[in-house]
Amino acid sequence: MKTQKIIVTGGMGYIGSHTVVALINSGYSIVIVDNLCNSNIVVLKSISEITGVTPEFENIDLTDDNKTAQFFKRHNDAVAVINFAALKAVGESVQKPIWYYKNNLNILLNVLEGMENNAIKNVIFSSSATVYGLPDILPITEEAKTKRPTSPYGNTKKIAEEMMEDFLKVQPNFKGISLRYFNPIGAHESEKIGELPTGIPNNLMPFITQTAVGIRKELKIFGKDYATEDGTAVRDYIHVVDLAEAHVKALKRLLNSEANDNFEVFNLGTGVGYSVLDVVKSFEKTSQQKLNYSFEKRREGDVPELYANPSKANEVLGWNATLTLDDMTASSWNWEQKVRNS
Ligand code: NAD
Ligand code: UD1
Repeated sequence: MKTQKIIVTGGMGYIGSHTVVALINSGYSIVIVDNLCNSNIVVLKSISEITGVTPEFENIDLTDDNKTAQFFKRHNDAVAVINFAALKAVGESVQKPIWYYKNNLNILLNVLEGMENNAIKNVIFSSSATVYGLPDILPITEEAKTKRPTSPYGNTKKIAEEMMEDFLKVQPNFKGISLRYFNPIGAHESEKIGELPTGIPNNLMPFITQTAVGIRKELKIFGKDYATEDGTAVRDYIHVVDLAEAHVKALKRLLNSEANDNFEVFNLGTGVGYSVLDVVKSFEKTSQQKLNYSFEKRREGDVPELYANPSKANEVLGWNATLTLDDMTASSWNWEQKVRNS
């Protein structure tokens, strides 16, 4: 049987590259499309070293209508698209909202149009727990109301889901799944792919590992007066390798026509909330490093606690997160050291 071809937009990035590895290992043939605005061409070589397969790659800016239309025409034998491509820096999106709306929403519009014109009927979208805003009830289920996210970045995710829903309403033969990620961290065990933030990291895990290697002086923990067990904010950290596997399960659901509805959403988290101090402690244990940190006031826009009820993904997709917080911090640390020594 001919292998099924999957278009992976943003497949050179952090989550995309781990998912491409999982997809290749599950027997799919991959074409990555990415303009490398937040990733590096070496990732292609790394994917090929891990899997023994070099995926097809095209360097295209997906906001370019003509180039994207031509790309889809060339790959009209694909059976699905996984759309990772987006800009993702929350702070930057507050400073440059137009750039974020233009990039993230035009990518999705061009992808949906490419699918429509070439009868590629399945799409998976990278969404975020940020669409829940400040949650009323924890753990969060998919039934929770979405709220206007605090940043333009977050709002591109909410609007993108609404755009997909509208598109799928008039395309009953097309199917879409939106995956709402909680806090992806960690790196592949091969130490060949991982997160490569540019500039000063906003996110906790890369800030911790960069502090431990001496690039940052100290970690500032934002807030120690939250109504949580140790006063620091709580999140649902999920290993990127587990997250990647969820995409394979979601893809199979689409390709096997198992979906009940032609637009479905799933929370991807472990269901367990850890505080900032829990993450620091796990990091110190797995890395055998003493971390330099101090407490700061709360970061604007942060919610005290956010963790998923992942039952729907567990039951419907047959997916479960298997890797622990220690696996996450250990692999992040191994990756950071590998990057700094190469
Ligand atoms: P990433 O920046 O590592 O990967 C995104 C990729 O998209 C990059 O390789 C970048 O070069 C590419 N890209 C961006 N704009 C493009 C354009 N106009 N044309 C072509 N390629 C373009 O980010 P990631 O962490 O792997 O995130 C993947 C997806 O998951 C994003 O949509 C992100 O918003 C979403 N997400 C990420 C997180 C997280 O914590 N990392 C959490 C929730 C959701
Ligand atoms: C953030 C974004 C979210 C985005 C996600 C992944 C906000 C409000 N939310 O989630 O939209 O999808 O990143 O890109 O920006 N922390 C510190 N010190 C640091 C960094 C973080 O104490 O230097 C704390 C934060 O206050 C938070 C936790 O660590 O409590 C996790 O932070 P982070 O990794 O930035 O993720 P989120 O804020 O949950």
